[in-house]
Amino acid sequence: MSAAPAVPQIEFANVTKSYGTGRLVLSALDLNIQKGEFVTLIGPSGCGKSTVLKLISGLTPPSDGTIRIDGMTPKDARETISFIFQDATLLPWRTVRDNVGLGLELERAASDRRKKTTAAVLELVGLQDVAEAYPRELSGGMKMRASIARALATNPRLLLMDEPFAALDEMSRDRLNEELLRLREEQQWTAVFVTHSVAEAVFLSTRIIVLAPKPGRVHAVIPVDLPFPRTAALREGPEFEALVARASHVLREALVQ
Ligand SMILES: Nc1ncnc2c1ncn2[C@@H]1O[C@H](COP(=O)(O)OP(=O)(O)OP(=O)(O)O)[C@@H](O)[C@H]1O
Ligand SMILES: [Mg+2]
Repeated sequence: MSAAPAVPQIEFANVTKSYGTGRLVLSALDLNIQKGEFVTLIGPSGCGKSTVLKLISGLTPPSDGTIRIDGMTPKDARETISFIFQDATLLPWRTVRDNVGLGLELERAASDRRKKTTAAVLELVGLQDVAEAYPRELSGGMKMRASIARALATNPRLLLMDEPFAALDEMSRDRLNEELLRLREEQQWTAVFVTHSVAEAVFLSTRIIVLAPKPGRVHAVIPVDLPFPRTAALREGPEFEALVARASHVLREALVQ
């Protein structure tokens, strides 16, 4: 049997976006993201990175062009997508366990499945010992882990992350980057990630898409051919440094476009 050409998991064809009658935010965007990729969007503030994630998740419609997720409209694909925002968006009156189980509750999953899955993802992100604590009792890094656990509990095919670690100190961010890649080895999801940190983009991604502003468009695509599994030691190697230097250069180019 000959292999059929892979259908992209995310497909943008000629996508244009303006909010209401406002100016053009994204112009004629074409994107093809395959299953299993870890794609990071970088680009200057206001170039439309968050808008791309909102379009993928169906939170906002395109003004023109077509978006397909697994061949479906974003609305129809919604159940297969999880979104992680910069602020952990945990409900303060719920325990960590009940926050993590929220997505499953909304999906009306049976109670025993909900309990089992919640316990498993809490363990996966190392929060089993604080499951009965409230968000105010957690550090920033722990809150973010809880938010990741909540996103993973619904077993997404697509994980969208909008600067999830931006508010953390560098060491916590590095550690969570490593954890995120470890989770990716255990679960099967495709990632679209947004960051302002070039080093974070290189560490995590299989491909970096650099957007230029006004209107937002693809300026360059940088493949990151560093092998997996990626560990902390990778950051000290010359290939990593060379890629960070290259991506930083391309990002500066995009800024002056
Ligand atoms: N709901 C909205 N209504 C109107 N304009 C919006 C809305 N959301 C975003 N915009 C505008 O669209 C443009 C792109 O915004 P977006 O948030 O996608 O940028 P971004 O690349 O994520 O920026 P940042 O790096 O600062 O997060 C900006 O000019 C912004 O003001
Ligand atoms: Mg944004």
